[in-house]
Amino acid sequence: MSWIHEKANRELTRIREAREKQVYPMFKPFESGGLHSSIGGQPVVNFSSNDYLGLTQHPKVKEAAAAAVQKYACGLSSSRVQATTVAHVELEERLAAWYRFESALVFTTGYQAMVGTIMSFADKDTTLILDSLAHACILDGTFLAAGTPTQQCEVRFFNHNSVRSLERVLKTKERKNAMVLIEGIYSLDGDKAVLKEIVEVCEKYDAVLVLDDAHGTGTLGTNGRGILEETGLEGRVPIVVSTFSKTFGGIGGILLGDADVVEHVKNRARSFLFSASLPVPIVAAAGAILTMLEDDGPALVAELHDKAAYFRKSLTEIGFDLGMSNTHIMPVMCRDERKALFMHIALLENGIYMIPIVYPGCKKGEERLRVNVTRGHTREDMDQALEMLQIYGDAFFVLSGDELGPMED
Ligand SMILES: Cc1ncc(COP(=O)(O)O)c(C=O)c1O
Repeated sequence: MSWIHEKANRELTRIREAREKQVYPMFKPFESGGLHSSIGGQPVVNFSSNDYLGLTQHPKVKEAAAAAVQKYACGLSSSRVQATTVAHVELEERLAAWYRFESALVFTTGYQAMVGTIMSFADKDTTLILDSLAHACILDGTFLAAGTPTQQCEVRFFNHNSVRSLERVLKTKERKNAMVLIEGIYSLDGDKAVLKEIVEVCEKYDAVLVLDDAHGTGTLGTNGRGILEETGLEGRVPIVVSTFSKTFGGIGGILLGDADVVEHVKNRARSFLFSASLPVPIVAAAGAILTMLEDDGPALVAELHDKAAYFRKSLTEIGFDLGMSNTHIMPVMCRDERKALFMHIALLENGIYMIPIVYPGCKKGEERLRVNVTRGHTREDMDQALEMLQIYGDAFFVLSGDELGPMED
């Protein structure tokens, strides 16, 4: 056995044990797309999907993608340098206009958009300042920049959503230029950034703010343009990164900024230059959803908000702890690994899919079920989920907070 086999074997112990006890929750294969699907032949309603406006399965989206398959096939076999199509360029122009930015660039994933943006700017003169709950793409871009010999930026963290903590870091940073990286809605906890205060402190210290609005796109603001629209701060954040993997129902990253900023990233980001171009069927699908947002954004977003308000009120009345959430992302806090896993299994047996998040996906003591309400959920879906949550929340002491007794082997 080589060392890689030994390492893999050693590090898989925990996962093997979970599989043996039949509590390993990850990578269960769905048998069709959409919120209403099946796993192992059993119907399930997916409450962990990020298809926030329920548009992924819309016939117009599928038709646009199918037409693009006929014209461009499924891939372009190259990076954007030599595989840019008029469809990419048109979508970038439309995105820039819709989001009210000078320029937009489409990446193959949101993760790559963030890593490429950070890597294009962070150098020895830069301090990167991250919210302590920053998404993996922000962390990975930051550590890549810090560890690259020619860049080696300084890295600092501030307490989650704390403007006082951010200001302390801005006052004591060691490099000339500051870049502050936050999310519009924090993906695991479902709470919004205190954007106005953060923008003000960034302006005071001349720091560049980078906003990852992956979960705000299509869910916040009257038209769904995100947290900037909701807070009336459009024009005051220089860089926004978002994704097609949630509301836009596909895959792909979006960078928004002034023309020179975007052009610089386009010519500099290795995650853009050295990775394949976004397939045109996906570009076409995102374009079809953008048309729906342009034509019908307010109604679509309002419907999501109505459903989320109903679900939040019901969960709260039952007595669930939703942590810091103040959006459609409503983690059901179990605060115990076994409770989260048992809840997941019991709910799945009853056709409700809510993925558990356990350490190291979250801190110990913050284990939860990932619960997202989307516009695609029906009242019946929500009522069924609420009934099952209440039954198993009682059975596994999630509601009472009592300890689960020791398990027999
Ligand atoms: C906050 C946040 N940023 C970025 C990403 C990455 O987006 P993508 O799926 O397009 O790579 C995600 C996806 O999980 C996310 O939640």
